[in-house]
Amino acid sequence: FRRVLFRSFTLMTKKKNNKLLSTSINKKTSSLMDDFNSSIDIDQRLIEEDILVTQAHVSALEKLKVISTIEAKKIYQGLNEILNDYQKGKIKFSKKNEDIHMNVEYFLHQRIGDIALKIHTGRSRNDQVATDTRLWTKKSAKEIQKLIKMIMRSILNQANKHQETIIPGFTHLQIAQPLSLAHHLLAYLEMFKRDLDYFEFSIHGADENVLGSAALAGSNYQLDQNLLNKKLGFSKSKQNSMDGVSDRDFCMYFLHACSMTSIHLGKLSSELILWSSNLVGLFNVHSEYSTGSSIMPQKRNPDSLELIRSKANIIRTKSQEFSNVISNLPLTYFKDFQEDKKIIFECFDELSLCLNVMSDVIKKSHFNKKIGVELCETNFATATDLADYLVIEKNIPFRKSYKTIAAIVQFALNNKMKLSEISLKEFQKFEKSIDSNIYQYIDVKKSLARKKTNMSTNPKEVSKKIRKFQKFLK
Ligand code: ARG
Repeated sequence: FRRVLFRSFTLMTKKKNNKLLSTSINKKTSSLMDDFNSSIDIDQRLIEEDILVTQAHVSALEKLKVISTIEAKKIYQGLNEILNDYQKGKIKFSKKNEDIHMNVEYFLHQRIGDIALKIHTGRSRNDQVATDTRLWTKKSAKEIQKLIKMIMRSILNQANKHQETIIPGFTHLQIAQPLSLAHHLLAYLEMFKRDLDYFEFSIHGADENVLGSAALAGSNYQLDQNLLNKKLGFSKSKQNSMDGVSDRDFCMYFLHACSMTSIHLGKLSSELILWSSNLVGLFNVHSEYSTGSSIMPQKRNPDSLELIRSKANIIRTKSQEFSNVISNLPLTYFKDFQEDKKIIFECFDELSLCLNVMSDVIKKSHFNKKIGVELCETNFATATDLADYLVIEKNIPFRKSYKTIAAIVQFALNNKMKLSEISLKEFQKFEKSIDSNIYQYIDVKKSLARKKTNMSTNPKEVSKKIRKFQKFLK
């Protein structure tokens, strides 16, 4: 009898509990709506942030004596246990509880009883979810920054190894002028360094506490902002509660930063795919990151890079997706916002993956040291240097020297010769003043050292930049 009594008692309290935590009073939603409305499958990822935010909020309520110290302790402990159990895979969320906020509250109630019913005092899920998302965005932007630094290190190591490696530089995909491979790779370090700044900006945008905004008008409790900011690591609070619950600009900044990084990743992958083609042969994707063909036994395909390229393109669409969700909404909170997290999570996951893969591809793959000089020579990559020879040593105006060298290149093409194979006598037929110094200007290696500006491919400048980046990435 006692057992039956106990069972019916627990059933009663369970029923009561569910009702107490309900978000709609005395109305039952259809199970189709429960499924449709629920975001727990997506936002359970915010559990750590959500628990942290609730603990901070409870400490503010404790300071106001809305919650006693003994109660607060039980709440902190209960929340810590929930997080622990979650990390051990022991928690099963329910769609009945809609989202991570309702689920955490539900589990806390199960664990510590009616004290849990006090945690939602003076706040709303509107400021709660915005705060969770801000914390997640800050954390994730910092993680991406770490991955960007990792890829920068991979690139820098290759640049350091290839200071002497000559490659042809391209414009319009046509061989243009000789470069060092290091110089080429360092261009990507500049891009990724800008990306770090962009993510810093997105961290700055997310770095505002909105707790105290409550549903939209502000809280009826004087929640200590300094305390909240300190506990949650925010450097300031929002100035306007309505902006507090509706502002998702920081997500846009984050997605834009992801978009910029993916543009740079796409450029790099596209280029390496091209370089790995048999037609070019400057790059061999490591066997760990290339795959064979099911029919052609000789093939190695740069699949890793091709996937990065297409994923990078998809990542760029995320900021568009997100702006579609938040655009044209009047103030303040709408359920539309619930769709926002899926987008930022997907974007983060895909970009992290791409950065990890690209970093390892660069680290392990092989750049061909030998082929570049030949490509430069057979494609007259030092023709500009020859034009400058006539300007510098023979005082011929550039437009004139350009024409003379163009004629010489045409002659070499017609006779299937490299510039270095043309005799001095032949050269003098085009311009009498040409002397044997011209061969110095034909030399591909010497072309690099001839560059005078500090942003040039001059090996001295390149090695300076390498040292600068080594210091930066230490
Ligand atoms: N699951 C919701 C979201 O992600 C939480 C906020 C719900 N607020 C509300 N008033 N229905 O946006």
